[in-house]
Amino acid sequence: MCGWLTRPANLSEQRTWGAAPSKPLSTMTAASNATPYGTLPPASPVADRKPISLPRLNELRLRGEKITMLTAYDATFAAVADAAGVECILVGDSLGMVCQGLPSTVGVSLETMRYHTESVARGVQRVQGTAWIIGDLPFGAYQESPEQALRSATVLMQAGAHMVKLEGGGWTTETVRFLVERGIPVCAHLGLTPQTVHALGGYRVQGRGDAAAKLRQEALALQDAGAAMLVLEMVPASLSAELTEALPRCHTIGIGAGKDTAGQVLVMHDMLGINLGKNPKFVRNFMTGQDSVLSAMSAYVHAVKSGSFPDNSLHAW
Ligand code: KIV
Repeated sequence: MCGWLTRPANLSEQRTWGAAPSKPLSTMTAASNATPYGTLPPASPVADRKPISLPRLNELRLRGEKITMLTAYDATFAAVADAAGVECILVGDSLGMVCQGLPSTVGVSLETMRYHTESVARGVQRVQGTAWIIGDLPFGAYQESPEQALRSATVLMQAGAHMVKLEGGGWTTETVRFLVERGIPVCAHLGLTPQTVHALGGYRVQGRGDAAAKLRQEALALQDAGAAMLVLEMVPASLSAELTEALPRCHTIGIGAGKDTAGQVLVMHDMLGINLGKNPKFVRNFMTGQDSVLSAMSAYVHAVKSGSFPDNSLHAW
C-alpha cells in the first residue's frame, strides 16, 4: 500500500510519525503543549517523510502517483496542508481575491507575495514539514524583462519559496530559461491565466479548437526552457492528457483540466467550501462529511491519489 494511503487523519497522530517525541502530544500536560491562538505545536519530531524536492516529484511521476498541490497563504493552513500530505503548497496570487478582497489578481504586489510566502515557509518549518513551496510572481513583477523577473524571483526565494510560478507562454519562454539557468526552479501556467483575465474576456475555458495548437507549442517550448512544472487551468481534458504525455520533464498540474495530468491543484478556500458565490465546475467541496480542515485536506489528497478527483464527467471540459 502506498504511504499516502496510510496517512493519519489528525494532526496529533501525524506528529507521532517521526522520531518519537518523549511522550505522545495527546498525553502531554496543558502547560507543556499548549500554544496560544490555536496555531502550531512549538516543536515537533523530525518527520520521517523526506522533504519534497524536484527528484522526489520526478519519482512520484515515474511510479504513476499523482502530485497533490493546494494553495495556502499563512503559517497555520500551510502546516495543516503539509500534515495532510499535500506535497506542494502554492502561495498563489489568488490571495488577492481570497485574502485581500480584490476583484482579480491584477492588484497583488510583490511585497504582499513576499509577506505571505514568508508566512507559509515559517509555518512549514515550524512543524518540520516537507512541502515544496511555490511562490507566485504577481502581475507586473516579471513582464518587463528576464532581469526584472530574476529580481522578483529572488525576493520570493529568499522569503522561503523553492520554486516560482509565472503565467503565460511565448514571450515567457526566454524568462523561464533565464531563471532556470540561474538556479531558480520554475512552474509555468497556461490556459486560463488569471492575471490576463481582462485580455481573455473572462474566466473561460482556453485551448479549444484552433487555440489548442498554440497552447501545445507554448507548453513544449516551456519544457525545453526548463520549466519543471506547468499549471494547466481550464483546459479541455483531452488536450491536457495529450500534453501530459508530451511533457515527461515538466509535470502538468491541472485545475479544471481533467484527471490525466501529473497532479492537481485547487484554491484552498474553494475546496474547503469557503465561498459565498457559485463554485466553478472544477471544484469539489472536500469539507462535506469532514469535521476538520485537516480531514478535508487529507480527503483531497486521497481523492487525487486514488483518481476519484477530478471526475471528468463532472469537473472538466
Ligand atoms: O494563484 C493561484 O492560486 C493559482 C492557482 C489557481 C493555480 O494560480
